[in-house]
This record gives sequence, structure tokens and C-alpha cells, in this order.
Amino acid sequence: MHDLGPRPSRHPLPHRNAHAWRGLEVSLDVLQHEHLVALEERYSHVLVNHQLDGVLLYSGHPARHFGDDQHASFVTQGHFMHWTGLAHAAHCWLLIRPGLRPTLYFHAPDDIWHLPNTLPDEPWVNHFHVERRQEVTPPALPPGRFAVVGDVAPTMTAQWDVKINPDGLTRDLDALRVHKSAYEVACLREANQRAMLGHQAARDAFLGGACELDIQFAYLAATRQRETSLPYGNIIALNAHGGVLHYQHQAIRPEAIRRSLLVDAGYRYRGYCADITRTWPGPHANQRFAPLVEGVTALQRTLIAALAPGVSFIDLHERMHAGLADLLIEQRLVRTSAEAAVASGITRAFCPHGLGHLLGVQVHDVAGHRDEGGNLLSPPVGAPFLRLTRELQAGMVVTIEPGIYIIPMLLDAYRGNREIDWDAVGSLADHGGIRIEDNIHVTLHGPDNLTPRHE
Ligand code: GLY
Ligand code: MN
Ligand code: MN
Repeated sequence: MHDLGPRPSRHPLPHRNAHAWRGLEVSLDVLQHEHLVALEERYSHVLVNHQLDGVLLYSGHPARHFGDDQHASFVTQGHFMHWTGLAHAAHCWLLIRPGLRPTLYFHAPDDIWHLPNTLPDEPWVNHFHVERRQEVTPPALPPGRFAVVGDVAPTMTAQWDVKINPDGLTRDLDALRVHKSAYEVACLREANQRAMLGHQAARDAFLGGACELDIQFAYLAATRQRETSLPYGNIIALNAHGGVLHYQHQAIRPEAIRRSLLVDAGYRYRGYCADITRTWPGPHANQRFAPLVEGVTALQRTLIAALAPGVSFIDLHERMHAGLADLLIEQRLVRTSAEAAVASGITRAFCPHGLGHLLGVQVHDVAGHRDEGGNLLSPPVGAPFLRLTRELQAGMVVTIEPGIYIIPMLLDAYRGNREIDWDAVGSLADHGGIRIEDNIHVTLHGPDNLTPRHE
């Protein structure tokens, strides 16, 4: 077994019995078959439009540290994963040609040092013609017009007249990942279920007095994954660390004073990512903190309820700022009108990031800044970090992740501004920040929140 995350039958997680696992697998098999059939049709259409006889998708390979024989951890490129779900299969190639069975060139060399890769014993593999290969070089291509997509050096394909990562083609392949199939939604839902087990364990470890590193271990143990399987580096932030948006360390020293914990942590299931954030007040939190957490949670739910086809994500991002202004005023951190708090940039100083992003085989999935026609949709001037500027459509899966942070680097620009209650801000100084993040499937019948709410 390799690369598809823990097999349910081998690693039953506590909330499901073996029968339920088997049911999940069978229905996934059916949905995955439909996913692959639809993908073949869509790729054929794109390839014909680009007057190509085929595209060779390269899975990629891990980078070697300079002057060393050790490699960085590795994740396959998204288009390869879109077909196979294989997140860690290096040196593989996938040849897609209209009307022909896709060929998977699977790198599994005989090796005395490593266990050779194997494909999972699952029905989807039969969809492909599989050739096991010893070499890392590309497979020979038949005569015709081909493009190669992936992290390919020109020298790798110098013997052929092929285009490498042509702009128009990659843009069109990216567009095929914007609307998720029923199979992809099922995988994202499962990734969320598993990640939530980790969040519950992280909260319990925090309330028991654990340091950041032990909270991370609790998360990994509950989700039964190793660190290199995570879709992104977990953010496990105690106290002021929560105000560092992508805090990257895990302190080994327990904190005597525990004001807050922010955990932004996920799970990758068959390639598909969960991206969930929760924030917990600690035993030493200032009394202002818990109501703020509740306020951000309530705002997040309001924003989720507004998710529907046709809604502009930029408008929703602006609604987040209006809601944050109301909350900051209600909690007496800011004393001006909501309109003035937004217009003067105060809400951006408390929340500099965007409302959310597309989610899929990449945690920040592709094509968030393109319209249906593939045209660029740049973020507005006031929201440079907004990763999604499209109008929502049924089938998209997005994150909704409002937050409020105490980031001195940003708030210092407003020192002296009497519209901010600096004493109140000071009382929250070592609490870092609050973010509440769920993953939502946009449907014609209302938002389908993939993130379980039983914490
Ligand atoms: N985990 C990164 C993000 O929320 O976008
Ligand atoms: Mn996110
Ligand atoms: Mn996140």
C-alpha cells in the first residue's frame, strides 16, 4: 500500500465501525469511476482545443539538499494528483490522449535500500494502463503533438519537440479543478472528518497543559498520520504565537500561563486536503477573549450561510470586514462607526488576510484569480492577500476563515488613533489571535459544510 493515506481496514479510527468503512470504500469506488470518466472527457476537449495529441503529466521529484544525499519531503503536482490521488509518488508520468486509455508510468525500481512503491489494490487502478518503470527519465512518446506539464527541466525532454507547461493549456487544466466532482467532495468530507479528530485531541492536550510540540503529537496521533503526510505545516500557536499568521515552530517548553491556542491543521485523504482552524481560550485568558472567539465564530457562520452560486467572493470578503467592525465595536476594542473602521483600514490591521480560498488537491487550490473565460481577476487594492476573486458557482469548495489578531507590526501604524481602545487591545496582547476556518461545498441547495461541528 502506498500514498493513499491510511487504509480504513488497517487503521480504523474510533468513530466508525468496519462495516461503515467498507461502505465508504464501495461508494467511493463508484464515485471515483465517474470522476475519471468525466475527467477523460474534459481532458479530451481541452487537448482537441489546443490541437494536441496528448499531454504527459509529470508527478515530480523531491529536491536534494545542496551538497548532500538527503532530500526534502515531496508532494506530487496537482494535475497528476487530480487523476490518481497519489500524493507522494515521485518520478511517475501519466500520458493522457483523447479516446485512449490513460497510461500511468509508475516508477518502482528494484532497490535494496527502499521498499519499492506499489499501487493500491483499488478498482481505480484498472482505469489506467500501468507500466512499471525502473528509470527516472520520461517514457518514449509516440509520434504526434504533445505537451508536458510538471516540474520538468528542458533537458529532460530535449529529445522531443514538445511544449513544456504552455500557458494556455495549464490555465485550461487548472480550470478543470475549480468545480469538484461528487468523488472529490466525498474525499474532502472524509479529510475533514479525520482532521477534526486531531483538533479535538489538540484542544484536550492544550487544556491538559501540553506544550506546542506535544499538542502537535496529539494531533498527529489522533489523525494517524506522520508529519510529511500533512497537506501543510500545522500551525500550533500558543498565546502570542497565534498572532503570527503562519507560525511555523512548535515550542518544546510548556507555558505556565495559557491564554489561548490557535490550531490550523489538516489532513490529506486520497490527495484531497482539509484546512481547518480552531481557537480555544485557555485557563488564563483575559475575560475579553472568549466573547471575541464566540463573535468570530458567529460571524463565520453568517458568512457561510451566505455562500451560494452567483455570490461574489470579493463582496463576501467585504462583508467579513463589516462584520469584524461590528464585533470590534460591540466588544469595545474600537469606538467609531463600522463604516469608518473599515474605511480607515482599522479592520485590516486586525485581520490582514483574505476571507478564504479554493480547496482541493492543493490547500490553496488553483484558478482562484481567473474568471470562467480564464481572464485574470486581480484582488482589489485593499485585499492583496485575497486568494479567491471569482463569483461562486455550484461545485466549488472554499474555506471561510475570518479572524481577529493582535499583530503589533500592523496595529503600531494606528498608535495615537483614539478610535482604538488601546487599553483593551493591551489586555489581549499576549493572546495572539483568533481564526475559525471551515471547508464548504457550494451547492444549488445551500452551503454544505464539510467540517464537522461536534467539537
Ligand atoms: N492553512 C493555511 C490557510 O488557512 O490558508
Ligand atoms: Mn485556509
Ligand atoms: Mn488554514
